[in-house]
Amino acid sequence: MLKLQQMESKTRKAYSQAAATYDAEPNSVLFMETETVLAMLDASQGDSVLDAACGTGKYVLETLKTGADCFGLDFSGEMLAAAAVKCPGACFVKHDLMSTPLPFAAGTFTKIVLAHALWHIAAIDELFLDFARLLRPGGRLVE
Ligand SMILES: C[S@@+](CC[C@H](N)C(=O)[O-])C[C@H]1O[C@@H](n2cnc3c(N)ncnc32)[C@H](O)[C@@H]1O
Repeated sequence: MLKLQQMESKTRKAYSQAAATYDAEPNSVLFMETETVLAMLDASQGDSVLDAACGTGKYVLETLKTGADCFGLDFSGEMLAAAAVKCPGACFVKHDLMSTPLPFAAGTFTKIVLAHALWHIAAIDELFLDFARLLRPGGRLVE
């Protein structure tokens, strides 16, 4: 348990340090799936989308452009600060995905995207159960 907490704390620190240069020095691996993820998400006006582990808000920004409402969640305040500058009109929440339930009411979202972050989550079952709670019937999770 202690090891897991230490890992998590290291991950958070690493992303917080990376936030300042994250967009300026893009990792091409993180862009390989962008088009596919956006097509699968298929956001449009009337959608309420959660970008879980939003980083600097790549998917928040693209989702907002469709007219959908978008919430970004991340456990790094520095990542969220960078995202907020890029994405006026979105709501951002600082929260750890390993701490469920996430701070939203049941049925808040029509779609949830979790991009390039699943490998950081030890408690995947709990998180996915909570995503199911947050999604409206017929909602969509893109991972
Ligand atoms: C590789 S980045 C991907 C960012 C964004 N989804 C994208 O595709 O550009 C991973 C993000 O996951 C966040 N993250 C990692 N573990 C997390 C956790 N347990 N809870 C919330 N956010 C987490 C990091 O802070 C970082 O912003």
